[in-house]
Amino acid sequence: MHLGRTTLSKFLIQQLDGIENARELGALLVYVAAAVKAISAMTAKGALSGMHGKVETQNVHGEVQAKLDVIANDVLLRSSEWGGLVAGMASEEVDEPYPIPPQYPRGRFLLIFDPLDGSSNADVNVSVGTIFSILRHDRPEAPLLQDYLQQGREQVAAGYAIYGPSTMLVLTVGKGTHGFTLDREIGNFILTHPQMTIPADTGEFAINTSNARFWEAPVHRYVTECQAGRTGERGRDFNMRWIASMVAEVHRILIRGGVFMYPKDTKDPGKPGRLRLMYEASPIAMLIEQAGGRASTGRQRLLEVKPTELHQRVPVILGSANEVARIERYHVEHDAGHDGPFVSPLFNERSLFRPEARG
Ligand code: AHG
Ligand code: MN
Ligand code: MN
Repeated sequence: MHLGRTTLSKFLIQQLDGIENARELGALLVYVAAAVKAISAMTAKGALSGMHGKVETQNVHGEVQAKLDVIANDVLLRSSEWGGLVAGMASEEVDEPYPIPPQYPRGRFLLIFDPLDGSSNADVNVSVGTIFSILRHDRPEAPLLQDYLQQGREQVAAGYAIYGPSTMLVLTVGKGTHGFTLDREIGNFILTHPQMTIPADTGEFAINTSNARFWEAPVHRYVTECQAGRTGERGRDFNMRWIASMVAEVHRILIRGGVFMYPKDTKDPGKPGRLRLMYEASPIAMLIEQAGGRASTGRQRLLEVKPTELHQRVPVILGSANEVARIERYHVEHDAGHDGPFVSPLFNERSLFRPEARG
């Protein structure tokens, strides 16, 4: 029965009321949704699409691209470049910002995206996603790199698509976080998860523990306490998940709570984290905050990090508000040197293995 359901278009007309350039923003979100439907169709075909596997190229991060990375990137660029809605675009898969071709008019928004998040999961038939961020560009001139480097709190809209057993689009325009499910028979996104809300407390955490030896002490402290469960400091058991698609972890957290961490580590001293600020951390942080959660680097609200580079990386700790606040407190206590009793002496700055720590 289709009558009475709220489609994405109807939702946007209602939701964008009162927002500057509402029509254009709504139309841009519909363009993005169209790209998402195309990517959804490709991922759902799996090996039958002929698009599985790697290509010979690497992206700006030195990562070998999957065929689907390249195609999803093209789909998003082609869907959004022609309609006079965007002034420019930027993507995980493209080194420099993408200028709008001269035959098309420029609009008032910048669209930034991770076309395929978790792409290593595509070949093993595990959920992947698309993440996007929309910023304003109010000058008539074509945007310069500097115009893209806005704090996350400047975003006018953010969202992700998850290509799982069902395809969902989850978005915010600063009025809550709302989830839509793709009805494949009629080709519409239907509002199925209005006003998503993250419980403030949780018993579930997500982190890649193979990086444990590179973590900072506050993260060790938190994870060690979770692992100790009811026999330790927390007095209750925790559960752990790691899918390696951030979109899928975040989706789980929006549905039932949890904490996701890809924290600062020392694996590669040149990189302060794994995830990228502009098209992974910032849009996801806006969705998390709009759903009542908390999103942090451990030492700063993610939405207040000032970007200096398009592809810069950032530590990410987000999810259920009370747990994230606790991890932030562990960072404060560590930085003030007040975390002694809880810290494993085997790791990090105050390590027994550092020469100055030995007696
Ligand atoms: P992408 O596929 O866009 O490069 O992003 C993958 C990201 C993120 O989705 C996930 O949380 C993380 O990388 C997984 O990293 P590990 O392989 O280090 O666990
Ligand atoms: Mn990604
Ligand atoms: Mn990606």
